[in-house]
Amino acid sequence: MKELLRTLVEIPAPSGYESQVRSQIREWIEPLVDETRVDQLGNLVAVRKQTGAPRLMLVAHMDEIGLMVTHVDQKGFARFVPLGGVMPIHCVGGRVRFLNGVQGVIGVEKNPSSSEIPPLEKMFIDVGATSVDDCPIRIGDVAVFERPFVDLGKRVVSKAMDDRVGVAVLIEALRRIERSVFETYFVFSVQEEVGVRGATVAAFGVEPDLGLAVDVTATGDTPKGHRMEVRLGAGPAIKIRDAGMLADPRLIQWMVQTAEKAKIPYQREILEFGGTDARAIQLSRSGVAAGVLSIPCRYVHAPSEMVDIEDVENAVKLLIHLLQTPAPLEHRH
Ligand code: CO
Ligand code: ZN
Repeated sequence: MKELLRTLVEIPAPSGYESQVRSQIREWIEPLVDETRVDQLGNLVAVRKQTGAPRLMLVAHMDEIGLMVTHVDQKGFARFVPLGGVMPIHCVGGRVRFLNGVQGVIGVEKNPSSSEIPPLEKMFIDVGATSVDDCPIRIGDVAVFERPFVDLGKRVVSKAMDDRVGVAVLIEALRRIERSVFETYFVFSVQEEVGVRGATVAAFGVEPDLGLAVDVTATGDTPKGHRMEVRLGAGPAIKIRDAGMLADPRLIQWMVQTAEKAKIPYQREILEFGGTDARAIQLSRSGVAAGVLSIPCRYVHAPSEMVDIEDVENAVKLLIHLLQTPAPLEHRH
């Protein structure tokens, strides 16, 4: 699991530029499914067929937050806008890597008040150029944070746990599962971090009876952290609500009962901010029952996101049990 995660998180894939990670995932899963396709937005859709069974859409997003260059000045300094929820507090002094391999440092204009966090507009990327003419970066180029994967033993850290850990859970479930009570669509979505855009079109195309996103959620277990019950190491979380959705109560119950029956630790999750691809599934066509299996993650959207490897293992186990447990829903297909 750690090696799978390490490979996945080191591939740069800012929103809208997921092709490298998509090729890697496709190579791994193609032998494990009946069919794979890539839609016009770039979502990778893989199917395990089961005629007559309810159609379940599982989704994990391939993209990660990043930066896009908006301007390069005469001296070769690049200005940028965020791709997704980049927080200024995590930027200054950090390093970025462009898709063409160029690396850069994030600097900031002289700050009149050193106690305030400067906004992204006051920051720039310095790639070591001396002028606009020798600057290897152009308007529209995209970068991700440069921060290597770290194995701390029970816990692992990366810039892109959100949501490569969800991708890893889906791949591991595919590798281990033999039978399912569903016709299952494994969707690896694009552009989640810029507003669940990939999952929106994928859900329309798949037309599922029910859907589950596998994504990270925040925790409340750090010093003076969010007032939130979820913590690392206490099992995957079953989402009840976030800022984007109220999870379907029938699916919450299905997930809770399945976890209890299989004796897999789980947590009940209320997240006061944020959202996932499950929102897009829930609101597609005339409405779809949707829920989320969450991986607790500290420092979400910082360049060092931390998860507990046992939570990841337990998420795989729970997902495999869910695939073998009928959901309490009527279905159309
Ligand atoms: Co995110
Ligand atoms: Zn995410």
